[in-house]
Amino acid sequence: MHGGVFKPALPRRAHKTNRMLKDKTHTASDLLTGYFGVKVLDLAHILAQWSEQPDKLTCTYFSPPHKAVAAQLRDWMQAAGLVAEIDAIGNATGRYASSRAGAKALIVGSHYDTVADAGRFDGRLGVLTGLVVAEYLHRIGARLPFHLDVIGFAEEEGVRFSEPYLGSAAVAGRFDERILQRSDADGVTLASLLQHDGVDLAAIRALARRPETLRGYIEIHIEQGPVLLHRGVPVGIVSAIVGTGRFQVAIHGAAGHAGTVPMALRRDAAAAAAEIVLAVEQRCAKGSTLVGTVGQLVVPGGAINVIPGTCQFSIDIRAGDDATRDAAVADVLVAIEQIAESRGVKAEIIEIGRHGAVRCAPPMQSAIAAAVSRAGIEPFHLASGAGHDAAMFAGVTDIGMLFVRCGNGGISHSPLETVTESDVDLAARILLDVLLNLD
Ligand code: HGY
Ligand code: MN
Ligand code: MN
Repeated sequence: MHGGVFKPALPRRAHKTNRMLKDKTHTASDLLTGYFGVKVLDLAHILAQWSEQPDKLTCTYFSPPHKAVAAQLRDWMQAAGLVAEIDAIGNATGRYASSRAGAKALIVGSHYDTVADAGRFDGRLGVLTGLVVAEYLHRIGARLPFHLDVIGFAEEEGVRFSEPYLGSAAVAGRFDERILQRSDADGVTLASLLQHDGVDLAAIRALARRPETLRGYIEIHIEQGPVLLHRGVPVGIVSAIVGTGRFQVAIHGAAGHAGTVPMALRRDAAAAAAEIVLAVEQRCAKGSTLVGTVGQLVVPGGAINVIPGTCQFSIDIRAGDDATRDAAVADVLVAIEQIAESRGVKAEIIEIGRHGAVRCAPPMQSAIAAAVSRAGIEPFHLASGAGHDAAMFAGVTDIGMLFVRCGNGGISHSPLETVTESDVDLAARILLDVLLNLD
């Protein structure tokens, strides 16, 4: 499957478009309907063939399927006329160079790694939309006043090492080298994984872009929620990205025989964890943008007839502003200690990451909103409850995001994740329009 990008014969109308685009008598959004959507979806379906599980899509950092996807993206980027490579941290990067000497770079990116049992579009939609738009520009010979860098980031979800944004953090110059000592579920550290692949730290450090070399960062992403669907709009302009706080907790109680230990004498780690899960839910119900989730919960080596001695779980707390998030985190940490105390168990809490809420740059929001208007859509701005690679570039360069309507009730991080070809096509045309109108 390695090899060229889909190159259906350029429809007759596109030749007319090319002439009009070059002399800017029209914007892309009204001339190229239907050209991009089918290609993005086709490529997304091809990428979904590489998975760590035969009947589900799971593609996590540096697994063989993950490397196959990176190679495919690089090959498609090369076939699209970009100078492409897989960088030291595993990002697939392609440059469609500007003709302007000393040009800055505008990054259009998102991630190609997935959660377990994932959908096909989270992350990949943004990478592939950037790819097909870059290919189109190459095909019509339109050069931009900035280099167009299309990047598929290698690790946004943080599944393998519980640390999100490894790929984008490296490019944004925010790679936290302490993460190198973080181990995965098999005890493999990130450092040893990279070493095994002959990657040295200097090469990762060298990925950091100097802010003055960047024109901006744009990410196309599925909304991963129901807002656009319920509002009946195909795309939305992202105003801000929530701040997140993530923790791993281990509760240590006393294992025991399920039949012989009276209830009053137990120090049941799972029962304590259950009470904490409810405390997270109750506290995080108190705030409009505040959410709290225990996504992982396990009794290691548990058995039906043994009182759980240990229970491990994750906590993910987010809010539209850092003060709200931090207040909720503080209250939950107090609740954990109180519940542990009252149950005679011990709580071990590791903070695995805290990323601040960020705003999308007003000039980038305006540029995207103008292209949305030119496409005949009333611009609608919304905050993102999901984290995105764009957050790594906030403060480094101007960031902008365009959300694409998510079908099936807005479900994501699920194989039920879906988008329509026409919405994807519209998003690509809007991206093209933004690129053609940015100076
Ligand atoms: O967890 C998130 O918000 C993103 O999907 N990685
Ligand atoms: Mn995701
Ligand atoms: Mn994502």
